[in-house]
Amino acid sequence: MSERLAIHGGPALREAPWPRWPEHGEAEREAVLRVLAEGSWGGHPSPNREAEAFNREFAAYLGAPASVACANGTVAIQIALQAARLSPGAEVITTAYTFVATAAAVVAAGGVPVLVDVQPDSYCLDPDQVEAAITPRTEAIVPVHLACTMADMDRIGEIASRHGLLVVEDCAHAHGARWRDAGAGTLGHLGTFSMQTTKLLTAGEGGAVTARDPQHAQRLHSLVNCGRKEPGYDGYPEQLLGHNLRMTEWQAAVLRAQLERLPEQHARRAAQTARFEGGVSGLSGLRCLPHDPRVTSRTSYQWIVRYDAAAFCDVPRDDVLAALHAEGVPCYGRFYVPLGDDPLFSEDPHTNPAARAGARWPRGAHPVAARAAYEEAIWLPHELFLGTNADTDTLVAAFAKVHDQAAALRDRPPERPGGRR
Ligand SMILES: Cc1ncc(COP(=O)(O)O)c(C=O)c1O
Repeated sequence: MSERLAIHGGPALREAPWPRWPEHGEAEREAVLRVLAEGSWGGHPSPNREAEAFNREFAAYLGAPASVACANGTVAIQIALQAARLSPGAEVITTAYTFVATAAAVVAAGGVPVLVDVQPDSYCLDPDQVEAAITPRTEAIVPVHLACTMADMDRIGEIASRHGLLVVEDCAHAHGARWRDAGAGTLGHLGTFSMQTTKLLTAGEGGAVTARDPQHAQRLHSLVNCGRKEPGYDGYPEQLLGHNLRMTEWQAAVLRAQLERLPEQHARRAAQTARFEGGVSGLSGLRCLPHDPRVTSRTSYQWIVRYDAAAFCDVPRDDVLAALHAEGVPCYGRFYVPLGDDPLFSEDPHTNPAARAGARWPRGAHPVAARAAYEEAIWLPHELFLGTNADTDTLVAAFAKVHDQAAALRDRPPERPGGRR
């Protein structure tokens, strides 16, 4: 029997800090000083020197014909849809289990988000439900490659081409993930990335859009640069109203240095997530999300463990999270809730432009996402897997301790603010 749970007054398994994120060093220092000395700090002329180099290097890393840097991952989705000339009021099918930005960006692009449920094994868009949601007004599908998995791009691509729909991959979690050896972001018509602080590739803020079609790429350059048509991206017929969504040279230079680090970080995380998976595999009630063999390079923005309360004396998932926290393990349950449950997407058309656009997201409409959000998913941030074998073994030990003491946790559940439901 292991020691008393920390939540019951026993010693915590981990007091020392976990690996810090982001990682940085001489390369980032040199990048910032290079921009400082250059004196041209902003995104104008667009793309500026560092942004232009980052566009080239990121596209090469992904295997994409083109990549256009922008301000963040939210506007990246918006301008991807605009570059493909989404019609006003067009329906865009996306997942209910994602960050609010995915759906908010559809609204910002003038579309109506149509949310569908996810698959139980990947927590990504369920292709059968995508197909069932298609109407004459549907123009696009936005799959999200969630956490450490990828959406089924074989089926989504096949459905999209049969119905003549656009595919924009939201790759905010998936820099460097590969499906049948093709980079996330190169499988759809366009792909979008976020470089916000927590992401696998970061400059604090930032975004990028990949495009297959040169016309899409040209429009993207224009959309991030207030709608200007500069030489190099003036070869499309219409005028486009854009915004200043340019990336600064500081961000682009730091991203270039961070991109150099990414393959080694992926390898380090892959080794540690495999060690973790092996370590918890003997603990009943805990299963890591299965590995789809079509994902030939798996990345892990967050590592997800699926929890089954039946093997833990029916202790609710959130009590296990509280116990893990007390042991010193940062982890999350409601990382996302089904978007229909998010108060930001209430049905009040005065406060929610999506509702004004006609989106209706009834509660309970996405049971797989709801089960993941409220009962099943335990999200572990990627930096936990950037340390040593000993760090990973501590993580496993924390799960094992809570597993072994499930009965004690059931008999003495943690206080919940606002009482228990
Ligand atoms: C799935 C998903 N899409 C889009 C975004 C938006 O990216 P950003 O925060 O850079 O605007 C995020 C960011 O957290 C995300 O997780």
